[in-house]
Amino acid sequence: MPKKRFTSLLCPRHLLSGDGAQSQPAGSLQRRCGNRTDWQLPRSILPAHQQHHRQHSDRPNMNRYRVKLSRCLIFSSEVLEFIEKCMVAVGTQPSHAATLADVLVEGDRRGHYSHGLNRMDMYVKDIQTGICAKEGTPTIDKETVATALVNGRNLLGPVVGNFCMDLAIQKARDAGIGWVVAYGSNHFGIAGYYSMQALKEDMIGMSYTNTSPLVVPTRAKECTLGTNPISVVAPANNGDSFVLDMATSAVALGKVELHNRRGDTIPEGWGCDSEGRLSTDPAEVLSGGGLVPIGGSETTGGYKGFGLAMMVEVFCGILAGSQYSKHIRTWRVTDRVADLGQCFVAINPACFAPGFKDRMSDLLSLHRNLEPSEPGAPVLIPGDPERSNIQNCRTLGGIPYDIEVVNHMNNFAKNFGIEPLLPVNRPVPEQMPKQMPGQMPKQMPEQMPKQMPGQMPEQTPLQNDNPSEARGRV
Ligand SMILES: NC(=O)c1ccc[n+]([C@@H]2O[C@H](COP(=O)([O-])OP(=O)(O)OC[C@H]3O[C@@H](n4cnc5c(N)ncnc54)[C@H](O)[C@@H]3O)[C@@H](O)[C@H]2O)c1
Repeated sequence: MPKKRFTSLLCPRHLLSGDGAQSQPAGSLQRRCGNRTDWQLPRSILPAHQQHHRQHSDRPNMNRYRVKLSRCLIFSSEVLEFIEKCMVAVGTQPSHAATLADVLVEGDRRGHYSHGLNRMDMYVKDIQTGICAKEGTPTIDKETVATALVNGRNLLGPVVGNFCMDLAIQKARDAGIGWVVAYGSNHFGIAGYYSMQALKEDMIGMSYTNTSPLVVPTRAKECTLGTNPISVVAPANNGDSFVLDMATSAVALGKVELHNRRGDTIPEGWGCDSEGRLSTDPAEVLSGGGLVPIGGSETTGGYKGFGLAMMVEVFCGILAGSQYSKHIRTWRVTDRVADLGQCFVAINPACFAPGFKDRMSDLLSLHRNLEPSEPGAPVLIPGDPERSNIQNCRTLGGIPYDIEVVNHMNNFAKNFGIEPLLPVNRPVPEQMPKQMPGQMPKQMPEQMPKQMPGQMPEQTPLQNDNPSEARGRV
């Protein structure tokens, strides 16, 4: 049996480390093996054909086989509950804990693992140390029919984000546009969660946030800008939509962290060392170096990403009067409140030329139907890769996670007496092929949805992109 097959095996619940380990201590089951976790699985969980093979093999009486697993499947409802419980355990207002859980799980379902469960410990610590407020409601400092300045009162970013986006949508209903900025906020997860709320109202949505300085501007050595994400979404017909949701750095920091944790190198153009030189070593980027703006070096247009990151600061830190640029506290250093600035916009297309959604649908299909430069790699539009990930979660019946991330969070949650996350008894595909822009996998694994994103609009319930549906969906 090829090794690859083994890596696709499910991970039984009792094999995860943590309090949930029932039969044997995790240490005896697990040892580090390269970048993977090497498990000894009991015969009973091997696939039938494998058991048969073993029964007829000459090997003496083995009842355990070493297999390599890196992924496991967890119900999204369990992840939601787990995050909520961890947050409530440190005193978070339950509704705020639920709001955060929803945003993080949506990040994972959309395939942005760098902004999902992987980040939970950061939010827990922020509440635990009191650097972030555990209860309360944002307040409006001043407003017009179309604008508002909101004091986030140092609450969790998702609580501030939902408050502001709801307000922006309400204003767009009344005035055609709602432009709301907030100060006194915190890390809000995936920017697309908020902009996509506007899709429910057939509106264009936008959201932006500034973040701790992690990006080195073109020609500089010092980090003075955050990864400052931009999200712009627009509705089309039949629930289809354009969903741009991106960091203004070449990648989000979490992706570099994940590579570092796995011991992998990073592609050139993601980050630089402390001298401002491009580097493929994630450790160099994380210690003294920094991310680089979209576009990479100056010769490849990095200054445009630099410009976009500054634009986000104009909409966020500068407009809202919060911290901005290098004045924002250092990433993961919680010596003072974050006081992030954020911006949320809703625009009602009905106030402009008629037929907006028809033209949007035409624009989307025009691009999806372009002849691909590489056969089998259809042209995607922003939002398609995430739709594919959500569909994949539905097909699998849960969210596939790196076992290392789950173990890390389970060990963390043990400190608060929270029951560990337990994998589902179902097959998990091997690591999803990286969907770098323009590079959809040539061959999708068996478990992937049959429809490629480029062919989805007609047949797929794209309205399920709606993040509020995440709760308990898979
Ligand atoms: N809160 C924060 O501080 C913060 C900071 C940075 C990033 N983030 C979030 O991290 C997440 C990941 O950001 P990212 O920049 O790494 O995302 P990404 O590079 O994976 O995707 C960026 C955008 O490109 C689109 N895309 C991807 N492949 C494509 C293709 N082949 N063709 C056309 N479009 C394609 C995606 O749909 C998405 O809209 C986002 O949700 C972002 O909001 C949050």
